[in-house]
Amino acid sequence: MKPHTRRRGAWTFFRQWLRSPLRTAAVAPSGRELAAAMIAELPVGTRRVIELGGGTGALTRALLAHGIDGDALLALELNEELHAHLHARFPQVRVELGDARDLANVAARNGFLDAGLADAIVSGLGLLAMPRETQHAILESAFACLRPDGRFVQFTYGPQQPVADEVVAALGLQVRRGDFVLMNMPPATVYVFGR
Ligand SMILES: C[S@@+](CC[C@H](N)C(=O)[O-])C[C@H]1O[C@@H](n2cnc3c(N)ncnc32)[C@H](O)[C@@H]1O
Repeated sequence: MKPHTRRRGAWTFFRQWLRSPLRTAAVAPSGRELAAAMIAELPVGTRRVIELGGGTGALTRALLAHGIDGDALLALELNEELHAHLHARFPQVRVELGDARDLANVAARNGFLDAGLADAIVSGLGLLAMPRETQHAILESAFACLRPDGRFVQFTYGPQQPVADEVVAALGLQVRRGDFVLMNMPPATVYVFGR
Protein backbone atom coordinates (compact mmCIF):
# COMPACT_ATOMS: atom_id res chain seq x y z
CA MET A 1 0.00 0.00 0.00
CA LYS A 2 1.26 3.50 -0.84
CA PRO A 3 2.19 5.57 2.28
CA HIS A 4 -0.29 8.35 1.38
CA THR A 5 -3.14 5.78 1.10
CA ARG A 6 -2.25 4.46 4.57
CA ARG A 7 -2.07 8.00 5.99
CA ARG A 8 -5.43 8.98 4.48
CA GLY A 9 -7.01 5.78 5.89
CA ALA A 10 -5.55 6.45 9.34
CA TRP A 11 -6.82 10.05 9.30
CA THR A 12 -10.31 9.04 8.12
CA PHE A 13 -10.42 6.42 10.87
CA PHE A 14 -9.19 8.81 13.57
CA ARG A 15 -11.86 11.38 12.59
CA GLN A 16 -14.56 8.73 13.08
CA TRP A 17 -13.06 7.84 16.45
CA LEU A 18 -13.29 11.51 17.52
CA ARG A 19 -16.96 11.50 16.53
CA SER A 20 -17.88 8.17 18.06
CA PRO A 21 -15.14 6.53 20.16
CA LEU A 22 -17.25 3.66 21.54
CA ARG A 23 -18.62 2.60 18.21
CA THR A 24 -15.36 3.02 16.30
CA ALA A 25 -13.65 1.13 19.15
CA ALA A 26 -10.04 1.95 18.14
CA VAL A 27 -7.99 5.07 17.44
CA ALA A 28 -6.16 3.50 14.52
CA PRO A 29 -6.77 0.76 11.95
CA SER A 30 -5.39 -2.73 12.68
CA GLY A 31 -1.76 -3.30 11.81
CA ARG A 32 -0.33 -5.96 9.51
CA GLU A 33 0.65 -8.30 12.35
CA LEU A 34 -2.89 -8.35 13.72
CA ALA A 35 -4.36 -8.89 10.25
CA ALA A 36 -1.97 -11.83 9.76
CA ALA A 37 -2.95 -13.34 13.13
CA MET A 38 -6.66 -13.09 12.18
CA ILE A 39 -6.06 -14.68 8.79
CA ALA A 40 -4.04 -17.51 10.36
CA GLU A 41 -7.29 -18.58 12.09
CA LEU A 42 -9.31 -19.03 8.88
CA PRO A 43 -10.29 -22.67 8.30
CA VAL A 44 -8.05 -24.42 5.76
CA GLY A 45 -9.34 -23.86 2.22
CA THR A 46 -11.46 -20.81 3.15
CA ARG A 47 -12.95 -19.13 0.07
CA ARG A 48 -16.00 -17.21 1.29
CA VAL A 49 -15.58 -14.61 4.04
CA ILE A 50 -17.71 -11.96 5.73
CA GLU A 51 -16.02 -9.04 7.44
CA LEU A 52 -17.84 -7.13 10.18
CA GLY A 53 -16.81 -3.52 10.85
CA GLY A 54 -14.55 -3.06 7.84
CA GLY A 55 -13.34 0.40 8.94
CA THR A 56 -10.84 1.74 6.42
CA GLY A 57 -10.05 -1.75 5.13
CA ALA A 58 -6.96 -2.99 6.99
CA LEU A 59 -8.41 -6.52 7.22
CA THR A 60 -10.17 -6.28 3.85
CA ARG A 61 -6.86 -5.60 2.17
CA ALA A 62 -5.16 -8.48 3.99
CA LEU A 63 -7.97 -10.88 3.05
CA LEU A 64 -7.65 -9.96 -0.63
CA ALA A 65 -3.86 -10.32 -0.45
CA HIS A 66 -4.40 -13.76 1.12
CA GLY A 67 -6.26 -14.78 -2.04
CA ILE A 68 -9.92 -14.29 -1.09
CA ASP A 69 -11.81 -13.28 -4.21
CA GLY A 70 -13.51 -9.86 -4.05
CA ASP A 71 -16.84 -11.40 -5.08
CA ALA A 72 -16.52 -13.94 -2.24
CA LEU A 73 -15.93 -11.22 0.35
CA LEU A 74 -18.77 -9.28 1.97
CA ALA A 75 -17.67 -6.33 4.12
CA LEU A 76 -20.25 -4.71 6.37
CA GLU A 77 -19.72 -1.26 7.91
CA LEU A 78 -22.15 0.84 9.97
CA ASN A 79 -20.45 4.22 9.63
CA GLU A 80 -21.43 6.04 6.41
CA GLU A 81 -18.10 7.74 5.85
CA LEU A 82 -16.12 4.55 6.43
CA HIS A 83 -18.54 2.64 4.20
CA ALA A 84 -17.97 5.16 1.38
CA HIS A 85 -14.19 4.92 1.92
CA LEU A 86 -14.29 1.10 1.75
CA HIS A 87 -16.51 1.11 -1.31
CA ALA A 88 -14.17 3.50 -3.18
CA ARG A 89 -11.03 1.65 -2.11
CA PHE A 90 -12.27 -1.87 -2.90
CA PRO A 91 -14.74 -1.67 -5.82
CA GLN A 92 -14.28 -5.41 -6.40
CA VAL A 93 -15.57 -6.30 -2.90
CA ARG A 94 -19.24 -6.60 -1.85
CA VAL A 95 -19.27 -3.64 0.54
CA GLU A 96 -22.53 -2.98 2.40
CA LEU A 97 -23.68 -0.22 4.75
CA GLY A 98 -25.48 -1.74 7.71
CA ASP A 99 -25.57 -3.01 11.27
CA ALA A 100 -23.94 -6.34 12.12
CA ARG A 101 -27.12 -7.27 14.02
CA ASP A 102 -28.84 -7.31 10.65
CA LEU A 103 -26.12 -9.32 8.87
CA ALA A 104 -28.30 -12.29 7.84
CA ASN A 105 -30.78 -9.97 6.06
CA VAL A 106 -28.04 -7.86 4.46
CA ALA A 107 -26.17 -10.95 3.20
CA ALA A 108 -29.36 -12.46 1.78
CA ARG A 109 -30.38 -9.18 0.09
CA ASN A 110 -26.89 -8.72 -1.33
CA GLY A 111 -26.99 -12.18 -2.94
CA PHE A 112 -23.82 -13.26 -1.09
CA LEU A 113 -25.61 -16.27 0.41
CA ASP A 114 -26.83 -17.48 -3.01
CA ALA A 115 -23.47 -19.16 -3.51
CA GLY A 116 -23.56 -20.78 -0.05
CA LEU A 117 -22.77 -20.02 3.56
CA ALA A 118 -19.55 -18.31 4.59
CA ASP A 119 -16.50 -20.33 5.67
CA ALA A 120 -15.47 -17.64 8.14
CA ILE A 121 -16.44 -14.28 9.59
CA VAL A 122 -13.73 -11.90 10.68
CA SER A 123 -14.78 -9.15 13.01
CA GLY A 124 -13.19 -5.93 14.16
CA LEU A 125 -16.32 -4.86 16.07
CA GLY A 126 -15.86 -3.55 19.58
CA LEU A 127 -17.94 -6.41 21.04
CA LEU A 128 -16.48 -6.02 24.53
CA ALA A 129 -18.12 -2.61 24.99
CA MET A 130 -21.50 -3.71 23.64
CA PRO A 131 -24.49 -4.70 25.79
CA ARG A 132 -25.15 -8.46 26.05
CA GLU A 133 -28.32 -8.23 23.95
CA THR A 134 -26.33 -6.63 21.13
CA GLN A 135 -23.57 -9.25 21.37
CA HIS A 136 -26.25 -11.97 21.27
CA ALA A 137 -28.00 -10.45 18.25
CA ILE A 138 -24.72 -10.03 16.33
CA LEU A 139 -23.44 -13.55 17.00
CA GLU A 140 -26.83 -15.13 16.31
CA SER A 141 -27.04 -13.34 12.95
CA ALA A 142 -23.40 -14.19 12.17
CA PHE A 143 -23.76 -17.90 12.89
CA ALA A 144 -26.86 -18.01 10.68
CA CYS A 145 -24.53 -17.04 7.79
CA LEU A 146 -21.72 -19.48 8.66
CA ARG A 147 -21.32 -23.09 7.53
CA PRO A 148 -21.77 -25.51 10.50
CA ASP A 149 -18.01 -25.85 11.12
CA GLY A 150 -17.26 -22.24 10.14
CA ARG A 151 -15.34 -19.89 12.40
CA PHE A 152 -16.03 -16.43 13.81
CA VAL A 153 -12.65 -14.75 14.30
CA GLN A 154 -12.60 -11.69 16.54
CA PHE A 155 -9.90 -9.48 18.01
CA THR A 156 -10.11 -7.59 21.24
CA TYR A 157 -7.98 -5.10 23.15
CA GLY A 158 -9.31 -6.35 26.49
CA PRO A 159 -7.70 -8.87 28.85
CA GLN A 160 -10.44 -11.51 28.47
CA GLN A 161 -12.58 -12.90 25.68
CA PRO A 162 -14.95 -10.15 24.49
CA VAL A 163 -18.32 -11.93 24.56
CA ALA A 164 -20.26 -12.44 27.82
CA ASP A 165 -20.21 -16.07 29.06
CA GLU A 166 -24.05 -16.10 29.13
CA VAL A 167 -24.15 -15.21 25.44
CA VAL A 168 -21.59 -17.91 24.57
CA ALA A 169 -23.61 -20.48 26.54
CA ALA A 170 -27.02 -19.37 25.21
CA LEU A 171 -25.82 -19.76 21.61
CA GLY A 172 -24.00 -23.05 22.32
CA LEU A 173 -20.64 -21.66 21.20
CA GLN A 174 -17.08 -22.69 21.98
CA VAL A 175 -14.29 -20.15 22.38
CA ARG A 176 -10.57 -20.56 21.85
CA ARG A 177 -7.86 -17.96 22.45
CA GLY A 178 -5.57 -17.32 19.47
CA ASP A 179 -2.45 -15.18 19.24
CA PHE A 180 -1.66 -12.14 21.34
CA VAL A 181 -0.32 -9.42 19.01
CA LEU A 182 1.95 -6.98 20.78
CA MET A 183 2.87 -5.15 17.56
CA ASN A 184 -0.47 -3.41 17.19
CA MET A 185 -1.88 -0.15 18.47
CA PRO A 186 -3.18 -1.06 20.99
CA PRO A 187 -1.94 -4.66 21.41
CA ALA A 188 -4.73 -7.14 20.72
CA THR A 189 -5.70 -10.79 21.23
CA VAL A 190 -7.45 -12.96 18.67
CA TYR A 191 -10.35 -15.21 19.73
CA VAL A 192 -12.03 -17.90 17.66
CA PHE A 193 -15.69 -18.86 18.16
CA GLY A 194 -17.24 -22.01 16.75
CA ARG A 195 -20.28 -24.18 17.31
C1 LIG B 1 -12.11 -1.33 15.83
S1 LIG B 1 -12.80 -0.78 14.28
C2 LIG B 1 -12.06 -2.00 13.20
C3 LIG B 1 -11.86 -1.53 11.78
C4 LIG B 1 -11.04 -2.46 10.86
N1 LIG B 1 -11.67 -3.76 10.70
C5 LIG B 1 -9.63 -2.65 11.39
O1 LIG B 1 -9.35 -3.76 11.89
O2 LIG B 1 -8.84 -1.71 11.29
C6 LIG B 1 -14.52 -1.23 14.41
C7 LIG B 1 -15.37 -0.91 13.19
O3 LIG B 1 -16.67 -1.46 13.37
C8 LIG B 1 -17.64 -0.53 12.91
N2 LIG B 1 -18.91 -0.87 13.61
C9 LIG B 1 -19.23 -0.58 14.91
N3 LIG B 1 -20.44 -1.09 15.22
C10 LIG B 1 -20.88 -1.73 14.10
C11 LIG B 1 -22.05 -2.48 13.79
N4 LIG B 1 -23.02 -2.66 14.71
N5 LIG B 1 -22.18 -3.03 12.56
C12 LIG B 1 -21.20 -2.85 11.62
N6 LIG B 1 -20.07 -2.15 11.85
C13 LIG B 1 -19.90 -1.59 13.07
C14 LIG B 1 -17.05 0.81 13.27
O4 LIG B 1 -17.63 1.86 12.51
C15 LIG B 1 -15.56 0.57 12.95
O5 LIG B 1 -15.27 0.86 11.61
